[in-house]
Amino acid sequence: MSQPTLRAPKGTFDLLPPQGEAVLAVREAMAQQVRLAGYAYIETPAFEHTSLFVRGVGSSTDVVTKEMYSFHSKGGDDLTLRPEGTASVMRAVLEAGLVNGPLPLKLWYSGSFYRYERPQAGRYRHFSQVGAEAIGSDDPALDAELIVTGIDIYRSLGLSRVRLLLNSLGDESDRPAYRAALVEFLDTLDLDEATRERARINPLRVLDDKRAEVQAQLAKAPLMPQFLSAANREHYDTVRALLTDAGVEWDESPRLVRGLDYYTRTAFEFVHDGLGAQSAIGGGGRYDGLATSLGGPSVPAVGWALGVDRTLLAMRAEGVAPLESGAVDVFAVPIGEAAARVAFGLVVALRRAGVRADLAVDGRGIKGAMKAADRSGASLALVIGDRDLEQHEVQLKTMSTGDQVSVPLEHVVDDVLAALQRATPGRKAQ
Ligand code: HAM
Repeated sequence: MSQPTLRAPKGTFDLLPPQGEAVLAVREAMAQQVRLAGYAYIETPAFEHTSLFVRGVGSSTDVVTKEMYSFHSKGGDDLTLRPEGTASVMRAVLEAGLVNGPLPLKLWYSGSFYRYERPQAGRYRHFSQVGAEAIGSDDPALDAELIVTGIDIYRSLGLSRVRLLLNSLGDESDRPAYRAALVEFLDTLDLDEATRERARINPLRVLDDKRAEVQAQLAKAPLMPQFLSAANREHYDTVRALLTDAGVEWDESPRLVRGLDYYTRTAFEFVHDGLGAQSAIGGGGRYDGLATSLGGPSVPAVGWALGVDRTLLAMRAEGVAPLESGAVDVFAVPIGEAAARVAFGLVVALRRAGVRADLAVDGRGIKGAMKAADRSGASLALVIGDRDLEQHEVQLKTMSTGDQVSVPLEHVVDDVLAALQRATPGRKAQ
């Protein structure tokens, strides 16, 4: 009896061509922008001790209460697949003592994250983020720098319908007074027991409740910006002044609390209006208290992460064409075994010269091989038959016009480079 065909787990998906290049383009866009600002690449493990996220992300968050992939390892450790990257980066930085070196530390990362969420369009159980963290300074220039980086990344990907939501969440100097006012207000509302419990652990979480009946009751809730201390207001004002100087626009969002508990002062989200409910394509903020909640010294920090999957959905919604995966510039069409060997040598030489090149395999006849050349996206074909071999030359064919010229074997690389240069002036080798 045949086995049932296996499928990927719910909430996950495979990245299949031609989307591959688009994903790489998103990661590359982030890499390019953060490198411009002096961020260095870091990797941390895909799983951590569960306590890292309980202490770092916060015990009242959905992420910790409902969404963690936690397991007891064979060795007896309580481990969790990382639901986000910031707690891990801070753990790594503290563990390696990097906070004792020159500050701020500017780090970026890229990888898979795991949350046991109810899957829907744009919300997956396995997803991909590229993030950046500036650790060891509370200078508002870093908050602004990271936000501008985000704006520039989305712009470089061709997205124009991205909005920036901005808020300041205060810190231990002003949040207690706000918290008290909010608790007093929430006590007057008609909330279910689970929401009351949430309000007891972290009343700010209630502001983030997505249910319309809860939101309706929150219309008159006190908001954090009304409670900001003078120092935190000044910090927020400076962030906004720097954003204005950089030509960045935003929407003041006094109810934006974000889904993770470590945020203090600046909080922001990038939303795209073509995505429906899961509109956040990136988000972050300052987290000056995270290091101490992980048992380290007081280390101010700020960061954000771009959601790769949702950014791709946004690109699709705006019809921003991703690059074709696997496209080449030149396709070699050998007719016969001897020609196949020559074609192989030419393709290797072309690739070494930085030209994207491929060749027909499996001893295909001219018809099948030309079809493969068409499919490859190549603008040039190298057709090599018996007579060409005798003459020590190949036919260089321009795919769009069908024009063909004979080229001596030893000139192929130079002539191909020249033809590609003519077709796309300013072209650089890959
Ligand atoms: P976050 O807002 O939870 O922040 O996630 C950042 C982005 O990851 C979201 O805006 C979204 O695009 C994407 N994302 C989150 N969950 C999912 C999911 N289930 N499916 C698809 N995409 C998802 C953080 O994770 C913080 N660590 C960001 C940060 C860095 N804050 C400071 N530094």
